[in-house]
Amino acid sequence: MPHPLLPSTKWRTPFPNQTQFIHGGDYNPDQWLPDHPDILEQDAKLFRQTGINSASIGIFSWSSLEPSEGTFTFDWLDRVMDQQAKLGNRVILATPSGAMPTWLAEKYPDARRVDAVGRRKQFCDRHNHCWSSPSYHERVKIIDTKLAERYGQHPALAMWHVSNELNGECYCDLCRANWAKWLEARYGNLKALNSANWAYFWAHQAFKWEHVEPTDVVMDNMAVDWRRFNNQQLINWYTHEADILRAFTPAIPITTNFMTTMLNLNYDAISRVVDVVADDQYPSFDSDSPDFALYGAFWSMKQDLYRCFKPGQSFMLMESCPGAIQWRLPHKAKRPGIHRLEMMQAIAHGADGVCYFQFRSGRGSMEKLHGAVVEHWDTEKHTQTRRYRELRSLSDTLEKIAPVLGTGVKPQVAILYDWESRWGQHFSMGTGVKSPEWHVSWLNYYDGITTEQYSYFWQRGIPVDVIPDDRDFAGYKLLIIPMHWMMTAQLSSKLRDFVQAGGTIISTWDTAMTDKANRMLLGGWPGEGLGEVFGVWVEEIDRLPVGTPRAIAGLPGSGSDVACITHLTGATPLATFASDFYTGQPAVTHNPFGNGHAYFIGTRLNTPARDALYDRATNDLSLERIIDADLPLGVTAQLRGTADEAFVFLLNFSAEEKTVPLGSRSLVDAETGETFKREVTLEAVAARVFKITR
Ligand code: GLA
Ligand code: ZN
Repeated sequence: MPHPLLPSTKWRTPFPNQTQFIHGGDYNPDQWLPDHPDILEQDAKLFRQTGINSASIGIFSWSSLEPSEGTFTFDWLDRVMDQQAKLGNRVILATPSGAMPTWLAEKYPDARRVDAVGRRKQFCDRHNHCWSSPSYHERVKIIDTKLAERYGQHPALAMWHVSNELNGECYCDLCRANWAKWLEARYGNLKALNSANWAYFWAHQAFKWEHVEPTDVVMDNMAVDWRRFNNQQLINWYTHEADILRAFTPAIPITTNFMTTMLNLNYDAISRVVDVVADDQYPSFDSDSPDFALYGAFWSMKQDLYRCFKPGQSFMLMESCPGAIQWRLPHKAKRPGIHRLEMMQAIAHGADGVCYFQFRSGRGSMEKLHGAVVEHWDTEKHTQTRRYRELRSLSDTLEKIAPVLGTGVKPQVAILYDWESRWGQHFSMGTGVKSPEWHVSWLNYYDGITTEQYSYFWQRGIPVDVIPDDRDFAGYKLLIIPMHWMMTAQLSSKLRDFVQAGGTIISTWDTAMTDKANRMLLGGWPGEGLGEVFGVWVEEIDRLPVGTPRAIAGLPGSGSDVACITHLTGATPLATFASDFYTGQPAVTHNPFGNGHAYFIGTRLNTPARDALYDRATNDLSLERIIDADLPLGVTAQLRGTADEAFVFLLNFSAEEKTVPLGSRSLVDAETGETFKREVTLEAVAARVFKITR
């Protein structure tokens, strides 16, 4: 009997013909070679010893590849590529455009970015080029072409890595001209633009496209548009480079590395142009923290988001840190076991590769104290380190669990994650997002509220897809729409059809507040006709300082932070407020609609209240759990497999040993072969993989 939560066939892996998990890292021998000519030999030994089977090379190497315009020095890269081939490693070869060399910055000033107040930047930093500069396009085309010609057929080449963490903004005249063109293409005429921007406000009407000033913060739709536009600039840049590479090597996948849920970018849009989804993740997992499990849930949610970017394909971590992260405060050493947990978590959610920044720590500059596979202990001492023991043992695990590669999962629950809604809510003054608390913790807004909804499923071992709203909803039983600020008629009717046909939806406050131009929807929220599905309309939202409790009756626990003042137009209240001037008014509601159900959450529920609500909402859905028993607090179960084989990952995001009841399952440890029935005991922060035999 095929498992109801598993796809029938395997998914595409990041590398072509991939037979093992990628266990790799950024490798920068070009920084060492000038003073340490023997570094390659030392590193060869360390790669083998530690089991690192992949290297990302050349990410910021432009000045070593082209020390002066038109002079190319590929000899060192030839040696590195050949050495990687000899080691049997697979190389992710980067284009060096993430950092321009000094000579280029000097000779082609238009390549340098212009800041918001119009100053052309001096040569400094990285990720420093203008998106529109003709000379930068041209110089990059030359170096990328050289790389593709020289290494396109190299046996070690497995993937291209375009630039690095594409991000940032340029306000030069060329970028501004592109902005004006983009606006014209989006709105067609100035009246439509002014109406979208509500530009009659404060005399902001544009009489030509160039009048829309990107640094102005008055019109919040413009703030959203500027991000849409800038994201498109990034995509155009990526495409410029990817097209050059693809012409030489049509079969080699191309990617660029993302940065988790970076607010200013829309990774859903960017994921559509890359061949492989790759993330750079730097969580600060800390087993001493009371929020350890909540962080665990957030990072699981993030992995699910990444898994869902490209359906039918696995993703990878392009970067992570095996030690202490030098830019985080405090600069705490990674606790024993945490690294394994972090890596196994990514794999549990569909990653087929985990890589590090970086293989060997540099001796100087600002990342010298960033944790690496090999730090400043000498080569001979490497095997005496905790880092070595942890990474070696992870390599062993990855070898043993190779059958997990390319397997997937097919959840019955989905959460909508909408980058434009995040922007709309974030840039609208009066949502509380700009309050000081927000700066203290991301947990209070979009990612945090989404994680709170997600945690219910995480804690119960119910897999979840985290998807954009243009996906087909048909395969799901339950859809959660946290703070889906922007709503279109199209999405509203899609949600309506979903519920009509028997689906259940659960929404929080701040859903369907504006249109895509970030203008408030009229007629009570949730707008765009969605209020009918929920059987409510909200007249006002009481936004309180984060942490302000709002007592409720009807559900255990309490609310906090926000209180929607809600009218019922068909829904039944499941909880009412028991505080303030809205005492007795609905706080959480339920509305049967068509063959399905719609739940509206009008306050930030704490865990007991949320659990009770979700218990009730999922009661009749018979959602499949990975293990049909209650998992101990802080432990999650995740699933990967196909019709033929299935694997359960048990991850313990707590500092205590936990005994996990297995219900009717029988599991075999994928590493040791030991069989478990009834229960299995996990050590603190343990991460284990099991084959399901029943
Ligand atoms: C980013 C970059 C890397 C490195 C790491 C350090 O993810 O891509 O080059 O700077 O941060 O954490
Ligand atoms: Zn520019």
